Amino acid sequence: MTFKKTQKREHWASKFGFVLAATGSAVGLGNMWRFPYKAGEFGGGAFVLVYLAAVIAMGIPVLIAEFIIGRSTQKNPVGAFRALRNNKFWPLVGWLGVLTGFVILSYYCVVGGWILKYIFSSLTSAFETGTAGGRFESFLASPSEMVLWHGIFMGFTIFIVRGGISSGIEKWNKILMPAFIILLLILMVNSLFSPGAEKGINFLLRPDFSKLTREGVLEALGSAFFSLSLGMGAMLTYGSYLDKDTNISVSALEIAFLDTFCAIIAGLMIFPIVFTYNVDPRIGPGMLFITLPEVFASMPAGQLIGITFFVLVAFAAITSAISLLEVVVSFVMDEFGWTRKKADYLLGFVIFLAGIPSALSFNIWSGFTAWGGKNIFDILDSLASNFMLPIGGFFIAIFAGWILTHGEKEAEIKKVENAFHFYDIWHILIRYVTPVALLIVLLYTTGALSFFK
Ligand code: PHE
Repeated sequence: MTFKKTQKREHWASKFGFVLAATGSAVGLGNMWRFPYKAGEFGGGAFVLVYLAAVIAMGIPVLIAEFIIGRSTQKNPVGAFRALRNNKFWPLVGWLGVLTGFVILSYYCVVGGWILKYIFSSLTSAFETGTAGGRFESFLASPSEMVLWHGIFMGFTIFIVRGGISSGIEKWNKILMPAFIILLLILMVNSLFSPGAEKGINFLLRPDFSKLTREGVLEALGSAFFSLSLGMGAMLTYGSYLDKDTNISVSALEIAFLDTFCAIIAGLMIFPIVFTYNVDPRIGPGMLFITLPEVFASMPAGQLIGITFFVLVAFAAITSAISLLEVVVSFVMDEFGWTRKKADYLLGFVIFLAGIPSALSFNIWSGFTAWGGKNIFDILDSLASNFMLPIGGFFIAIFAGWILTHGEKEAEIKKVENAFHFYDIWHILIRYVTPVALLIVLLYTTGALSFFK
């Protein structure tokens, strides 16, 4: 399949396919890996509450804004802002988004690689109780293995994006997402019968505000943005493949609900295990990779369930990684007239190279730290999810709330879907609540950065 410069824009084959693909973008390592370990670090329930507030006050409004900008222009983030307001400033917000996508994908694929490695090694040897921590550490210590698996994960991502929108991204999401959600629920029920269930549920759902630091507030906001794939134009890009008769607001609510649901379920699956096996909830990025193998080791048919589980987490991660790569790919396709094939292969490879320092930051480059002891991987993650995404989200909110006219926005949402004054409520949120909340959190937390270790 080759494309000419004048290629027609592709579209989703169905509304259901779009919602699944956007949910696939949203549900990923952010839910399965980042949310639980951050919640563990920053006090459980209080973190979850701030996270939920961020989803409602900032996440959903920005999600709708991105869909409006994407669908109305049918373009990549840079082209979309330029099509709406062609001046010096607004296209830069698109550029920031493409850059953010690049950065996130580079380290995202490293974690994706950890999952593939887990699948592979559990095919060859069963999980054994008490060994998970050591196993994870010895894997992190090997630079060649880390880079190898990181590359393989990127290879899968490139393969799917190569297929295009409906016959690549949509097709794969329709298979992978439903399977993922069913298995997640089964594993959660299993966890809820473990001895640590009560402590785990309490930790996750009972807020203890004394544990919530300023950094925790910033992390909760960043996690909400990260988890919903917001602030960098991924949802904008997916929205640009929408046709006019999809109801944007209903889709946004469905996607936000499914994403938050999966994050909470992931927490309910993981924390009972954390407390059953007396793992410190502040364990950090290794949480998913240390706690779950423990439970698989002690479960009947644990090896089979463990493999299936990690396969599905890999699927969730890939359905997110493809949306990150798609942002960069659609940008060069639209703006420079590259074919999908060229954009996909070349950029995929460059991003793979850019991810190598993150892979090495757990072993040979672990001595390189900055910003209060963070390694390269952590620095990129903090920079992208705690600053670049909220800053991008802030400008998207200002653009949708203050720059676009009612006419431009109403053409996308009001006429068909203003039940319960949906448009009016959204408009108040995106105009006042979202940008003010984002600004306060950004100022508050950056001002406080010097107090952190
Ligand atoms: N939302 C994805 C996750 O939770 C990550 C992501 C962020 C994807 C930004 C696209 C854009 O894993």
